[in-house]
Amino acid sequence: MIIGIDIGSSTTKTVSVEGGKLARKIKTRAADAVTSATGALGKLLLENNIGISAIQGIAITGAGASRIKNDIFGIPTRRIDEIEAIGTGGIFLAETWGGVKPGRDSIIIANVGTGTAIIEAGKDGITHLGGSGVGGGTIQGLAKKLLPTSDFNSILELAEKGDLDQVDLLLKDITETDISFLNRETTAANFGKMMDSAGSADMALGILNMVYQVIGMLAVFAARSKNLDRVIVTGNGSNNPIGKQVLKIITGMYGVRFEYPPDAEYTTAIGAAFSWGV
Ligand SMILES: Nc1ncnc2c1ncn2[C@@H]1O[C@H](COP(=O)(O)OP(=O)(O)OP(=O)(O)O)[C@@H](O)[C@H]1O
Ligand SMILES: [Mg+2]
Repeated sequence: MIIGIDIGSSTTKTVSVEGGKLARKIKTRAADAVTSATGALGKLLLENNIGISAIQGIAITGAGASRIKNDIFGIPTRRIDEIEAIGTGGIFLAETWGGVKPGRDSIIIANVGTGTAIIEAGKDGITHLGGSGVGGGTIQGLAKKLLPTSDFNSILELAEKGDLDQVDLLLKDITETDISFLNRETTAANFGKMMDSAGSADMALGILNMVYQVIGMLAVFAARSKNLDRVIVTGNGSNNPIGKQVLKIITGMYGVRFEYPPDAEYTTAIGAAFSWGV
């Protein structure tokens, strides 16, 4: 069994991989990298009644991995480059759930974590195309000052009742007609209107809409630059119903599809585990 541990900037994701399959997964949060990694590993072993001798190796990745210099509990421990891990994990999930053939196809991966990384993976290997500091951390940071809550579920609940017309300058505010392929409900400027009457629900929607519009458009430009039309969304940000609605509208305008494989929050940890023996 190989353990993959992704010590992200916000959360630690730990998986076990056996016989080329994802076996177990857990998500934890701790203040420092060593506590995250050792705590998550201990929890996975204890809760599943696994002995330490069953582990062949530990693959660690993510922003916090550089802080762990030695083997964990005497088990061979390797540090895996995060981009490599995201690419490998993304390809594994796309292959398992999306019928992608790694030797033949390539995909774009938008890894939406605290920030966002855009990666191409597939027949030509794994390439870091770029990214943005706009991601889950942006949602939580803005929520802290603009909303009465920074809890994710509460932000989503608020946003469900929001009206974008209260915060965003829409095309219909500035023109009588559609512009090119943009219809009149399209955002012309995120937060560009901000009515005095805008409430928490409207701002919650405005924040989510802005973050996923930025991520969606980055992914579209990345996909188009590589003549591709599918994007696998991974990271905790793949699990956001309002984000998915925003990305669906982008698909309607640009013809690039966004896909959300199960376990996509664990992509980086899965990819690290698969990269262990390579
Ligand atoms: N449903 C959700 N939609 C969008 N973002 C979310 C959701 N739930 C949590 N988040 C945000 O996701 C971020 C953590 O995601 P994830 O664990 O994928 O990132 P990370 O690996 O810690 O960070 P990074 O990869 O950027 O170093 C946090 O900023 C959190 O606010
Ligand atoms: Mg991450």
